[in-house]
Amino acid sequence: MRESMPTTTVLVTGGAGYIGSHTVTRLLQQQYKVVVFDNLSTGFVEAVSPDAEFIQGDIRDRRLLSQVLGDYKVHSIIHFAAKLNVKESVQQPLEYYENNVLGLLSTLQAAQQAGVENLVFSSSSNVFGDASSEKLIDESVVKLPINPYGRSKLICEEILKDFSRTTKLRHAILRYFNVAGAALDGTNGQRTGNAYHLVHVAAQAALGKISEVDIYGSDYPTADGTCVRDYIHIEDIAQIHILALQYLLNGGPSQDFNCGYGRGYSVAQVLAAMQKVSQNEFHIKTAARRPGDSPWLVSDSTKLKRLLGWQAEHDDLDGICRSALAWERRFGP
Ligand SMILES: NC(=O)c1ccc[n+]([C@@H]2O[C@H](COP(=O)([O-])OP(=O)(O)OC[C@H]3O[C@@H](n4cnc5c(N)ncnc54)[C@H](O)[C@@H]3O)[C@@H](O)[C@H]2O)c1
Repeated sequence: MRESMPTTTVLVTGGAGYIGSHTVTRLLQQQYKVVVFDNLSTGFVEAVSPDAEFIQGDIRDRRLLSQVLGDYKVHSIIHFAAKLNVKESVQQPLEYYENNVLGLLSTLQAAQQAGVENLVFSSSSNVFGDASSEKLIDESVVKLPINPYGRSKLICEEILKDFSRTTKLRHAILRYFNVAGAALDGTNGQRTGNAYHLVHVAAQAALGKISEVDIYGSDYPTADGTCVRDYIHIEDIAQIHILALQYLLNGGPSQDFNCGYGRGYSVAQVLAAMQKVSQNEFHIKTAARRPGDSPWLVSDSTKLKRLLGWQAEHDDLDGICRSALAWERRFGP
């Protein structure tokens, strides 16, 4: 497998966001040229490495996107740009379909016009919905999302597959489970003040930035009654994008990959881990279930390891919590 593609220019939509900005740093380290395209709706320009080009724009603006793809002779796209708050998607479904689905359509139309050949797409474990038989979820598991966010991602997956069948574009669909933690060199992490990812919220509580953490539902059919998720470190997720891109650049056919460690932790276990590493027994409150939450989502990442040669490097819940805490201490209000 080629180590790097120095002449390849990669457009990263949503590259000012949490996962996108970490991936941009890693792409640059691997000598790719990077153009970030982001409307800054939830992203931060400060998160983008100064070595990347930054264009502020909306992916639904196909004319601008086409122009950027042409001007920078973009060969590959990593498509992160999306809205992703499950609770918000239940309340504002049309905004999710418009942003995520129309956004992908516009990106594909621009990509086709510019002759882009490779696209890595950010999907989510949410496409599996209520797959909760406490088995590891591989790529063949039936996809029945239970919230508009998950449905928007599944529709995007299907559009991408149809598109790749009839054009020269090849794709890698990466279904992340729960991405958490911060860059190990302390330079980047979750920046949004309006935090809703559990580890981020727990880090804020540990530092007294918020007064308590809600557990949404303690009566799920899991060992301790709280939802179980597969938490994967941001550094490992960023590396998966490099491997997926190299796979496509080496001519690999379109594929989908589930991305996690294959190990689940409950909400209560994550909060206990954060209390331990921060040595702060912050207040935890049990609240009602949230609509759209699945009880159990844990990845089977056998295919990811087999086809991309990926190996987890940071599979350690305490380590994830420590990195998030260190970042939260440095950053934010
Ligand atoms: N964070 C997770 O645990 C997780 C899990 C599964 C999937 N994902 C997926 O990963 C991707 C990135 O998520 P993240 O956690 O980095 O979120 P994020 O909100 O930090 O990043 C999303 C970025 O996309 C940009 N964006 C949104 N809509 C846009 C539009 N119409 N035009 C241009 N830019 C737009 C935002 O400004 C932001 O910078 C998303 O597609 C999300 O669905 C994330």
